[in-house]
Amino acid sequence: MTRPRCDQTAAWGALGQHFESKGGRLDLREAFRSDADRFEALSQQAPHVFADLSKNLVDTATQALLLDMARECRLEDHRDAMFAGEPINNTEQRAVKHWLLRVPKGASRDADAAEVHATLDAMLAYAEQVRGDTAITDIVNIGIGGSDLGPQMAVAALAEFVLPGKRFHFVSNVDGHELAGVLRQLQPQSTLFLIASKTFTTIETMTNARSARAWFEGQGGTDVARHFAALTTNVAAAREFGIATTFGFWDWVGGRYSMWSAIGLPIAIAIGAAGFRQLLAGAHEMDRHFATAPLASNLPVRLGLLDLWYRNFHGFTSRSIAPYHSALRRLPAYLQQLEMESNGKRVDAQGGLLSMATSPVLWGEPGTNGQHAYFQMLHQGTDVVPVEFIAVKQALHDLPGHHSQLLANVLAQAQALMSGKATEGGHKHFPGNRPSTFFLLERLDPSSLGALLALYEHRVFVSGSLWGINSFDQWGVELGKVLAKDIAPRLDSGDVSGLDASTAGLLRRLYR
Ligand code: F6P
Repeated sequence: MTRPRCDQTAAWGALGQHFESKGGRLDLREAFRSDADRFEALSQQAPHVFADLSKNLVDTATQALLLDMARECRLEDHRDAMFAGEPINNTEQRAVKHWLLRVPKGASRDADAAEVHATLDAMLAYAEQVRGDTAITDIVNIGIGGSDLGPQMAVAALAEFVLPGKRFHFVSNVDGHELAGVLRQLQPQSTLFLIASKTFTTIETMTNARSARAWFEGQGGTDVARHFAALTTNVAAAREFGIATTFGFWDWVGGRYSMWSAIGLPIAIAIGAAGFRQLLAGAHEMDRHFATAPLASNLPVRLGLLDLWYRNFHGFTSRSIAPYHSALRRLPAYLQQLEMESNGKRVDAQGGLLSMATSPVLWGEPGTNGQHAYFQMLHQGTDVVPVEFIAVKQALHDLPGHHSQLLANVLAQAQALMSGKATEGGHKHFPGNRPSTFFLLERLDPSSLGALLALYEHRVFVSGSLWGINSFDQWGVELGKVLAKDIAPRLDSGDVSGLDASTAGLLRRLYR
């Protein structure tokens, strides 16, 4: 199915004209003054997530043209093709069905649904068994990228729901300092290693897994079957490695979309089977919203359209994620992989060179920390960086005063970015009119986290779809892997033949 790319639509040209004529000069303060309903019109309640888009640089005409563009690009057809299980990951000839992992039992006619639920039931039964096994105190997830960031982010985010008495460690880097630091805290008889790798070939993960097993045996550990489990699509390779307990998943789950699969086992051990099912259910509610809501009131669609407006017309190069909840501290890193690995592409799905910019840089830290570090640049720097605030209404601690301070700060930052301060010139001048989106969760729990993450997934789908790219492959990670394979033996031999002068010079310095 070839669909028009955004830059091939009539709306694209109209958006360019609108940007030049007035859409690019919208003043938020003026927009609020002239439209008493702006907040109502530009905010919406989606499942578990309230979103205020009113502090964004859009007017009615911009929104109408963006929606025209989505229609011309046949965004809904593409979305429906994903939910129908068509092989929309065309460069790998794969379907894209991470959403199927979240469909309740019996609610899908998809051919893989029964297997999904059989695996989920088995994995959750295992999670409950580990939770009940008081001899196991430490769970070590060894994985990288999508086999690390999701579980690590979610276990931190749901800390208030984590079973006391279990400690969770995440080892991803091939840098042995990381694994060595974790191993120092462990006893083999009380440790469970989860080797998480979709392919079971990733060099970092395999190196760490081999070292973990050597440490386990070296420390007198016995019963590898009890102390190691594998989460992978390549069950045969895991068995060959010597791991008997395996939980599989499928090639139609992309690595960065895999925390809903067996890769989520650390989350399930941490928050229990019921909690994991709530996480899936929250995401499923957002899936249904994305699949069924009209474009104009479809939150992932509205966000994805805004992303194009900012990237391709305003030319903003980055977006800052500011979760005002310390438990969401790994969310920016998780979203970096989700968005930048999905949409950091320079050719369309057919391989044609793109003439417009794609993925922005995503970055951020939890508030209020960021305020005392880089917010200076957000308020007074030369670049405009749209900010995404994520606030949570209810606190799950009872320390007095903290939560109202936190909420006052997140509101104040969004307000300051927009309002600015014109009364004083020079160093004390705040230009204002700096855009932000404000997400509000009632509380941070498994269901709302699931919904928030699915919202981001679908928003990335929307922008990728309009850009005409395949958001589900990642060829750009391959070259470095191949070159590292060539360089590794040279560090032992000192052979620099055929290398460029810089790499050769550095290698000579590193050669022992
Ligand atoms: O190198 C990138 C990547 O393939 C990611 O897409 C993936 O999440 C990560 O490596 C880990 O891959 P695996 O789960 O196969 O070990």
